[in-house]
Parts: sequence; C-alpha cells; structure tokens
Amino acid sequence: MKYKTEIDIAINKFIGKKGALIPLLQNAQDIEGYLSKEIMSYVSEKTGIKLAHIYGVATFYTMFRLKPQGKHIIRVCKGTACHVSNANSIMNEVNNHLNLSGEEDTTKDGNFTVMSVACLGCCSLAPVIMIDDNTYGKLTPDSIGKILKKYE
Ligand code: FES
Repeated sequence: MKYKTEIDIAINKFIGKKGALIPLLQNAQDIEGYLSKEIMSYVSEKTGIKLAHIYGVATFYTMFRLKPQGKHIIRVCKGTACHVSNANSIMNEVNNHLNLSGEEDTTKDGNFTVMSVACLGCCSLAPVIMIDDNTYGKLTPDSIGKILKKYE
C-alpha cells in the first residue's frame, strides 16, 4: 500500500485514544490527499474499528474527501454575504472556465478541484474565493479567467 509507513505512524499516534478517529482520518487524508477505500480498510484492520463506522464518519463530515482532489483547491464562498453578492455567478464562471459540469468537481487534468464553502471570514470582500491559501475578493465573473490563469 502506498504511504503505508506514514499511515502506520498516524495510527500509532492515535490508537487507543478516546475520540481519536476523526484526527486519525484527518491525518490519513493529509497524507494521501483523500480517504481511499484501501486506507479506510487498513485503518479498520489496524484499529479494530468497524469499517462501516469509519465510512460513516468519513461521509458525515464535509471535511473528508473520498475521491482524489486536484493540485489546486478552489473554495467558492456561498456564505450569506457572498450569496447576496452574486456568488452563484462566480461559481458558474469558475465551472465554465474549467469545463466542469455541476456533477464533477475536479478537472480531467487533475489541476483543480472546486468546492463551495460557507463563510471564508472576509465578508467585506464578498464575493470571495480562495485558491489554495490565497484569497480573492470583490470578484466579478470577468475577473475569474485572469485569476485562474495563474494556476494553470
Ligand atoms: S460570506 Fe463569504 S466571506 Fe463571509
């Protein structure tokens, strides 16, 4: 298994500790970029936690991803301030620019994953997106192409 050593270290750090499953899964996700079936099965086998429970936790919390994600993560804010500042048109423009349908969230070349999030904490800049650790605000649909070009 890929990343077995790193996953073993994460398991050993949390095994037997109360409430450790979520931080353990976060750690595993940080290592692999998402939670694969293989990783969840391995965590189950090593910790004795039922796979159904692990899967239940992984699907309940939105911070967990069950599919590989792109090299760059685009977070489009859909919080109230952004919503009333036309966040939907920003999301549409991002998806159009990246040729993503509403169903897909990751580009075919694996360069971008797009997700909508609640407030990013800078409402005065609405509408806002974050790409990796960079924040872009006061956006218009016309500004999206130029911003995304920096990451292509
Ligand atoms: S609602 Fe978008 S940053 Fe707060």
